[in-house]
Amino acid sequence: MDIEACFRFEKIIKDLVKKGTGLLVVSHDRVFLDRVADRVIYLKRGVAETVTGGYTQMLDHLARDFRARQHEARVINRKIRELEEEVARKKNWSEQKEATKCAGVDKGYIGHRAAKLAKRANETRKKAEKFIDELKEKKPFVEKPISISFPAYEVPNKIVVDASHVSFSYGIKAIFKDATTQLTTRDHVGLIGANGSGKTTLLKCLIGILEPVSGKIKLNPSVKWKYIPQDVRELFDDESLLSFMSTEGYNEQETRHALGSARFRRDKVYQPVRSLSYGEMMRAAILKAVFEKAEFLFLDEPTNHLDIESLELLDELFANYPGGMFFISHDRHFIVEHGKKLLIIEDGNVRSFISQTELDPEELGLIQEQVQEAVEQARKRRQHGKDTLEY
Ligand SMILES: Nc1ncnc2c1ncn2[C@@H]1O[C@H](COP(=O)(O)OP(=O)(O)OP(=O)(O)O)[C@@H](O)[C@H]1O
Ligand SMILES: [Mg+2]
Repeated sequence: MDIEACFRFEKIIKDLVKKGTGLLVVSHDRVFLDRVADRVIYLKRGVAETVTGGYTQMLDHLARDFRARQHEARVINRKIRELEEEVARKKNWSEQKEATKCAGVDKGYIGHRAAKLAKRANETRKKAEKFIDELKEKKPFVEKPISISFPAYEVPNKIVVDASHVSFSYGIKAIFKDATTQLTTRDHVGLIGANGSGKTTLLKCLIGILEPVSGKIKLNPSVKWKYIPQDVRELFDDESLLSFMSTEGYNEQETRHALGSARFRRDKVYQPVRSLSYGEMMRAAILKAVFEKAEFLFLDEPTNHLDIESLELLDELFANYPGGMFFISHDRHFIVEHGKKLLIIEDGNVRSFISQTELDPEELGLIQEQVQEAVEQARKRRQHGKDTLEY
């Protein structure tokens, strides 16, 4: 659904709610959830958690819950350690006493007393061991913070593509006209526009898949760029995920480590890539691109099909990614988080880049209004700090 359709849908929902209709919506769209939900049910490991508020409140709750669990687990761990030390001490002591008894130094009063004390020590040790087992069961499960790992690399500042006065038509159907733009390896540019407005077509022109009817496009052959299409399946054949990911310069352990950090664990790595879900395929394709040290990424709707955790993973990955990117997206959170500049395609016109700080809602209407609101929400989410990723 494009941004405008999403906005209309949100309005319908709000009107229905005003009239007293209750709704249950299933969504991965973080801004949408923030705008319409007054309660979020979050399903994880078979448990449904209900949080009052939208997505931001849910993140807040998860972060607090994570910290509380972490604290509780630390306290229990400390207690277990203390008890284990006590058990070891008692065991040692009673063994020593038993040994002196067996050595036959004194079989009278002292031996008798030592045996009694050793028995008591044994009982206390057993009690402590039982208590340790109970504590271990009580200890809350704390997941490792998720964080995608890929090798750090540097990307030189280079022009990637230079397009001037480009127009494109499918037969007599004009798609866009007179588009001029330049992309460098320092740019993070988002292309937005309604469904069917020509975004994919423009991207394909920029990378030479489609030939424009007029204008010039210079694509720098020295830039290592990667294109991840809207239908990500096009990238794969029948190979396994591990073999798809295998890249020169990395051994299997490093590859598996990177896959694990992107939530591909255990047997999943042997699965044919094409049998993965679309969201998983997208995650794998992006991970592979950064693994290969791509200098520039052309991404056509990278957030499609991704669940919320994968979206958060992607946010983190792109925050650390050293290259440039040009992406198409309808995901308002992703747009404001990663589109340092925006390009808008509307009625065949491609508007020049707009830095998000220069957004003028009056001039650019609904889309910017949406984006600006999303900017605010994203800022709020960022204020929650890094630990919002830890769930
Ligand atoms: N091969 C083709 N032949 C004729 N028309 C096409 C062809 N491919 C796309 N179109 C049309 O061109 C227009 C722009 O398509 P494009 O795929 O670039 O849109 P988009 O902005 O990427 O849309 P979406 O947001 O749905 O992905 C659409 O009306 C589409 O139907
Ligand atoms: Mg498209």
